[in-house]
Amino acid sequence: MCGIIGYSGDQNAVDILVDGLQSLEYRGYDSAGIAVFYEDHIQVVKAMGKLQNMKRIIEEKGSDFRSNCGIGHTRWATHGKPSDVNSHPHGTENLTLVHNGIIENYLELKEKLIEENHYRFQSETDTEVAAKLIDSFYLTHRDPFRAITQALPLLRGSYAFGIVFKDFPGTIFAVRKDSPLICALDDTGYYIASDIPAVLKRTNRYYTLMEGEIAVVTASGIEFFDSEHRPITKEIKTADWDFQAAEKGNFPHFMLKEIMEQPEVVEKTVSAHVKDGLPDLGVEGLSDEELKAFHRIIFVACGTAMHAGMVGKAIIESLARIPVNVEIASEFRYNNPVLYPDDLVVVISQSGETADTLAVLRLAKSRGCKTFAVVNVVGSSIAREADSVMYTMAGPEIAVASTKAYSSQVCAMCIFALKLALLHQPQLTEQVRLYTKELLTQIPYFVSAIVNESDKIRYIAESFKDARDLFFIGRGIDYALSMEGSLKLKEISYVHSEAYAAGELKHGTISLITEGTPVIAIATGDECYEKMISNMKEVKARGAKIIFITKYGAPGAEQISDRTIYLPHCSEIFMPLIAVPVMQLFAYHVSVLRGCDVDKPRNLAKSVTVE
Ligand code: F6R
Repeated sequence: MCGIIGYSGDQNAVDILVDGLQSLEYRGYDSAGIAVFYEDHIQVVKAMGKLQNMKRIIEEKGSDFRSNCGIGHTRWATHGKPSDVNSHPHGTENLTLVHNGIIENYLELKEKLIEENHYRFQSETDTEVAAKLIDSFYLTHRDPFRAITQALPLLRGSYAFGIVFKDFPGTIFAVRKDSPLICALDDTGYYIASDIPAVLKRTNRYYTLMEGEIAVVTASGIEFFDSEHRPITKEIKTADWDFQAAEKGNFPHFMLKEIMEQPEVVEKTVSAHVKDGLPDLGVEGLSDEELKAFHRIIFVACGTAMHAGMVGKAIIESLARIPVNVEIASEFRYNNPVLYPDDLVVVISQSGETADTLAVLRLAKSRGCKTFAVVNVVGSSIAREADSVMYTMAGPEIAVASTKAYSSQVCAMCIFALKLALLHQPQLTEQVRLYTKELLTQIPYFVSAIVNESDKIRYIAESFKDARDLFFIGRGIDYALSMEGSLKLKEISYVHSEAYAAGELKHGTISLITEGTPVIAIATGDECYEKMISNMKEVKARGAKIIFITKYGAPGAEQISDRTIYLPHCSEIFMPLIAVPVMQLFAYHVSVLRGCDVDKPRNLAKSVTVE
C-alpha cells in the first residue's frame, strides 16, 4: 500500500528509482513519481496511472537527466483521487517527501498551516500537509533533523517518510511509524525502501528501521539516530531471498509463476518445521509446556490469511480437540474482544505489515496474552513484535492475489495442528508421525500434479468466463476453501462471486440460482459427501451449471456435474493444499480470458498498511 524507494550513491539514481518502483508497483499503481537532486534544485517527475506513464516523461527528458540521489513513490490512493496533482512526491520550495501511511489529523493541521503560516495547498493529500508541517519548522532554523523531530509528534496516524532538502544535496532523511521501511546498501551506495523486493536486484544486505528512529542516508553511508539525535548502532542483515524469486522469468504473470511454485513452497515450509519425523514449530519463546497450557487458540488475520486460519481451525479442532476461534482483524480489534491470559493469539500475515493484524497483535499483548505470528517476511513489524514467530517459506510474493503464501500458511496450520495433537492427544503420536511423513513426502508431489492440470482448468474456465455471478459451495474444511476460491475469483476477474456453506443455501441464497448460474462445488471429504451431492442436486434442479472438485473415484460425480476436476487421494486434513491450486488456476484463467490485469487488479494493493 504505497511503495517508497530512495538512493544515494555513485550510480544514476533516476534508473535505480524507476527500477525499484517497478518492483514496488504491487504496493499501489494509482500514480508514480520521483524527486532527484538535479543541477541546483530538486526535480520532481510524477504522473497518474501506472509507472509506464512516468517512465515516458523521463524518457522524453533524455539521457542527460541523471542524478546521484533521489526518492520515489508508487501510490495507492487514500486521500484524494488518483491524479497528477495528488501523486507523490509532495513538498515546498525547501523540501520534498514521499509517504506511505495515513495522517489522520491532516485536516486540523492543514487549517492551522493555512491560518498561521499562510501555506497554499495544491493537492487533496494528507502527505502535502506533512511536508508543509516539516517545512514550517525548517524555515525557522534550517536544520532538517530538528524540523523532522519537531513535526513528527504532531502527526497522528501512520507513516514511512523519505525526505530530501534542497540545501542538503545527496542526503535522504527517513523515518517510520506503523508503516514499513528498510535501509539497504551495496557497493555503489545506500537505499531506503518499503520492502526488500524493491532492492533485491541490487542487494540483499539491509537494516531494519525501528519506530521513531531516523536514518540519514548519503552516498558515503547511513547513520541512525533516535529522536534526541543520539547515534544508534545497527546490525546489517542478509535476506535469503534471491532476486530471481522476485522476477517473472518466462511466465506471463507473477500470479501464474507463484501458483506453479507451490510444490516447492510446500516442501520448503514443511521441511523447515519437521524434526525426527515429527512436527517442530522451531520457534523461540514458546516451550511445549506453555503451548499445552493454552485453553483456546484465536487466529486473527485478514483476507486470504484469515481463510488459512479457517483451515487451521478445522484441522486443530479435529486432531487436537481444543477450541479455536477465527477472527477478522479489522472487526476483532474494535469489538472489545474477550481475551483470557490462557488464550494464545495467533496472527497470520504474509507481509507481516497488515495494519489491522498488527494492531490486534498489540492489543493482545496489552491484554497480557501470549502472541504467536505466522509470517512470511522476515524482519517485518509483526515478526518483530510477536512473542514467537513461525516463518512460512513462500519467498517474495509479488502478484497482488495471494497464492503461494496461502499454501505456505496452510502448511504452517497443518504443522501447528499436528504439534498440538502431539501435546494434547499423545495416543495419536504414531498417527501424527504418519501425517507428518505424508505432508513432507507426498503432498508436494500431489500439488505438482494439480498445477500441471493448468491447461485443463483453462479449458473449463473458457465456458465460464462470461458469468455474471458465480457461487462456491462446500462443507467444513471445503467451506473454508470455498471462501478462498471465491475471493480469488472476484479479486482478479471482477466476476461477482459468493461462497456458501452448502447446507446454508436453502436458508436464503438458493433464490439466486437460476438457469445457467455457475456453481463450483467442493467435496474433498467422505463424511459429508452424500449431503454435498444432495445440495448439488438442489441447485442443479434450479438450473445451475456445476463444476465439481472432488477426489478420484467419488461416486456419482460425473452424473451430477457439468465438469469434474478430480484430486488425488490423500488424508482429508491436507486436501486444501491440493484443492486450492485448482481454484487459483480457475480464477487466473478467467481473469486472463476476460482481459483483466491479473497481477494488479483494480483498486487493490498488496500489503495493506492502512486501516
Ligand atoms: C488476497 C490477499 C489479501 C491478503 C490480506 C492479508 O489475495 O492477498 O486478502 O491475504 O490483505 O495480507 P497479509 O497476509 O500480508 O497480512
